[in-house]
Order: sequence, then structure tokens, then C-alpha cells
Amino acid sequence: MDIFQVFKDRRSIRRYKDRPVEADKIMQVLDAARLAPSWKNLQCWRFLVLDDQSRKAAILAAFPEDNPGRKAIAAAPVAIVVCADPADSDVANGIEYYVADAAIAFEHLCLAAHALGLGTCWMGWFDESRLKKALGIPDRIRVVGVTPLGYPDQEPQARPRKALAEIAFYNYWEKMSP
Ligand SMILES: Cc1cc2nc3c(=O)[nH]c(=O)nc-3n(C[C@H](O)[C@H](O)[C@H](O)COP(=O)(O)O)c2cc1C
Repeated sequence: MDIFQVFKDRRSIRRYKDRPVEADKIMQVLDAARLAPSWKNLQCWRFLVLDDQSRKAAILAAFPEDNPGRKAIAAAPVAIVVCADPADSDVANGIEYYVADAAIAFEHLCLAAHALGLGTCWMGWFDESRLKKALGIPDRIRVVGVTPLGYPDQEPQARPRKALAEIAFYNYWEKMSP
């Protein structure tokens, strides 16, 4: 699939078919994440794949009832917990780069999943300490996000995006066109 088509068609998927994800496809999406760029190439990301339904169920309580993606974690055959070890990254200009490192890898994973016909939904609204406790993730590790992974059972409309003129400038701040 053309990469621009992947950018265009990816959606947050919150409904999943009751169909397992092939082990090689899980490896492919993890490998796409592995190839992401990172601070000094330190690769602070860690991925915890939950394909055991009881392990996956154990994290549900960490998500607020009104998180729209909560049911997706329950319904999808797989969830992936995207973590980072901040000791394998750095802080510059007050920016904690482990977040950026893990986020880039996470988006690689989501785009690769879409290219393979799989759905994902980046989820960031959860109780981190509860989730870490449920899975036995060490204290020093941060959980940057969680996604369900599975075959989509919906085709959501594209959500609106700001026009380029609002967000991209040429040569001078807020100068819109070239
Ligand atoms: C950092 C981040 C955190 C998010 N957290 C959640 C979440 O907790 N629950 C949820 O249902 N969706 C979550 N989303 C998905 C966004 O709502 C979604 O990406 C946005 O509405 C645009 O829709 P689209 O992904 O289909 O283009 C999150 C997305 C990002 C990037």
C-alpha cells in the first residue's frame, strides 16, 4: 500500500472482529516500530504484547469507564502496551524525549498495522500505576500508550484536521504561503 494512502486511510478503530491476528503480522508491526528513529539511537521503547485474554482483561480496570476506547481493549484479540525506559533517552529544552521516541515507534506500529489490514487505536487515557501493577511492569518504566490490535469491524469516517494554512508557515511565523 502506498505510504500516503496509509496516512490518509488510517483511523482509530474501536470495534473489532472476533478473528485472531496471525503471529507473523504481530511480528511485522513490532518490527516496523523497531525501525523508528530515536534520541541518539538509544531505542528506549519496549512493547508488551497481550495476546493472552486473561492478561489483557487484567488491564481493563486501568481505563476509565468513559474512555471511548476501553471496550476496544476488551474486544480486540490483542493489545500492545507501548512503554519506554527514560534512562535510554534524554531531556533537552525541558522536553522528555522518551515520550517522542516511543510515540514515533507507536505511530510506525499503527501505520504498519493499517497497511496489513489491521486496526489500532492509540490510547493514552488510563491510570498508569494501576496498569503497571496489573502487568508487573517495573517502576522505572513509563507506559506511553496502549493500543488494541485486530481486524476492524467498522469503517469510521475521517475525523477533521486543521487546514495546512493554519499550522504550516513559510519563513516567518504565521506567514501562510510561500
Ligand atoms: C496521544 C493520544 C492519546 C489518545 N488517547 C485515546 C484514548 O485514551 N481513548 C480513545 O478512545 N482514543 C484515544 N486517542 C485517539 C484519538 O481520539 C484519535 O486519534 C483522534 O480523535 C483522531 O481520530 P483518528 O485517529 O481516527 O484519525 C488518542 C490519540 C492520541 C494521539
